[in-house]
Amino acid sequence: MPCSIARSVNHASKAELQTMITLPLENSFSLSNVQLSDADACVEHLNNPLIHQTTENIPYPYTKQQALQWIQRYLDITDRCRKFHLLTIRDSQAQMVGAIGIGEMDERNPHVAELGYWLAVSYWGQGVMTEAVRVFIHYAFAELELYRLWTRVFEFNLGSRRVLEKNGFKLEGIQRQHVYCDGKLIDDYLYGLLKSELR
Ligand SMILES: CC(C)(COP(=O)(O)OP(=O)(O)OC[C@H]1O[C@@H](n2cnc3c(N)ncnc32)[C@H](O)[C@@H]1OP(=O)(O)O)[C@@H](O)C(=O)NCCC(=O)NCCS
Repeated sequence: MPCSIARSVNHASKAELQTMITLPLENSFSLSNVQLSDADACVEHLNNPLIHQTTENIPYPYTKQQALQWIQRYLDITDRCRKFHLLTIRDSQAQMVGAIGIGEMDERNPHVAELGYWLAVSYWGQGVMTEAVRVFIHYAFAELELYRLWTRVFEFNLGSRRVLEKNGFKLEGIQRQHVYCDGKLIDDYLYGLLKSELR
């Protein structure tokens, strides 16, 4: 897998004095580390009800303060672990148009992590996330010492379910009416992928 890692010397703040990573995707997009300067792009793309409706943890409206806190949390993890738990999806101009990463690690089961991702609405339906997930899961199993990735998807989120299935995730169960969101009870689809199943 293509993976270039180089020490950054140009960033001013301690938080951004981080190792950098870039993983090319097939379609002129790329995955790379997040920076505090991505906060405006986060607000531009995440302050959208279409993203809020399909995710559990992305509020609407979405503010710059929330973006900065979210980015800082991952910068702190990188400082602590010297590993990237979150990668941004960037277009050919290196603008952030999405993100993919893993959530909080479970100390009792450090071989397992929850996968999460989102993409700016204007890029939907072009195969970007299918490719981003493909590259990220290879990275995660190789670099983050994981043996299992899992995620939960709202029943109606057919695009996300298809992205996972195309990348080999198996449907492991359905949690009926597990989520209460915006006045509705929603079935949650649990998907998992083992390192040994990676294609
Ligand atoms: C879900 C999401 C990540 C999909 O990303 P994407 O880049 O548009 O997906 P792709 O273009 O790679 O499409 C993958 C497959 O899903 C299908 N698909 C995409 N959107 C779909 C939709 N709304 N309904 C049905 N199928 C859909 C595509 O046709 C494709 O299948 P195919 O190759 O068999 O034709 C994106 O819509 C998104 O960010 N949504 C908001 C956040 C979110 O839902 N995150 C995941 C939470 S679990």
